[in-house]
Amino acid sequence: MTVPDSLTIRRPDDWHVHLRDGPVLAGVLPFTARQFARAIVMPNLSPPAVSVAEVAAYRDRIMTALPQGMDFTPLMTCYLTDASDPDEIERGATEGVFTAAKLYPAHATTNSTHGVTQIAAIRAVLERMEKIGLPLCVHGEATDPDIDVFDREAVFIERTLAPLIREMPGLKLVFEHITTAEAAEFVAISGENVAATITPQHLHINRNAMFAGGIRPHMYCLPVAKREHHRLALRKAATSGSAKFFLGTDSAPHARSAKESACGCAGIFNAPFALESYVAVFGEEHALDRFEAFASENGPRFYGLPLNQGTVTLRRDSFEVPERLDASGTELVPFHAGEQLGWRIAD
Ligand code: DOR
Ligand code: ZN
Repeated sequence: MTVPDSLTIRRPDDWHVHLRDGPVLAGVLPFTARQFARAIVMPNLSPPAVSVAEVAAYRDRIMTALPQGMDFTPLMTCYLTDASDPDEIERGATEGVFTAAKLYPAHATTNSTHGVTQIAAIRAVLERMEKIGLPLCVHGEATDPDIDVFDREAVFIERTLAPLIREMPGLKLVFEHITTAEAAEFVAISGENVAATITPQHLHINRNAMFAGGIRPHMYCLPVAKREHHRLALRKAATSGSAKFFLGTDSAPHARSAKESACGCAGIFNAPFALESYVAVFGEEHALDRFEAFASENGPRFYGLPLNQGTVTLRRDSFEVPERLDASGTELVPFHAGEQLGWRIAD
């Protein structure tokens, strides 16, 4: 089969991104806005954005930081805590401030100390979300310290996700940044109301990448990359043509100094070349004809939002990803730093 020299797709969206706040927001936002028309913006700020007012104010700060002339819409999420109130969540949805609500199990990841300690604490909120059709975005990792870090996602499915879906079969749920064959299988066999995002890193690397010749902090994110057979299962899911899987980068910038540290932060900054990274996978899997659905169609259809107008063209053109990038004075190391990528967005 001949490989085309260029690929034009409908403008894509990123269904999971960390844009941060303060000065670094203005530094990282253009990388996302250059590639994506919309993005689901994570609320794990410090302190987290929990109320309608806080999330609306964060949305305003994003719009203020957006360079003139860039066409980008942030789709906001609220951070659920044990104290979340169903009426407040419904008001956020009705007023068009919340596109989804985010479940971080307490202590699962960056800024999750205020997360949910047990599902029972947010039962009334979830029942309301099921009723009004507000999607739940889930960081799917069990947090019991006895559980091996590589098993946290599979254990979460067994102990939390499967029972939750059984109990609330109408809840719209996005299992985010899936990393295991178990998660891909769970989503595939669940109802139409269950979907998943997949990051570029989990399609490119397995857990060996974190230890290649030494400790590699820029390959560390949560959920952590797993064994090779999981990566292959994720590639299969992403390129399968199933409408249940769609693009969500989980781009999570941390200053280089915070990554290259005795206790390095979790997160991979993949926003600068996200599309180029994903399309490489679809090319390798001989599935370029399925890239548009994954990047630009499955997400909006799941969320019940219109497809974007306009297109983006990727050309086969090899280039080297920079070792470092600047975000308003914060030094960041992008995913694929120093590597060659074979597709580039045409201007
Ligand atoms: O690697 C990660 N980084 N995983 C998350 O769940 C959070 C994110 C962050 O905010 O840094
Ligand atoms: Zn995330």
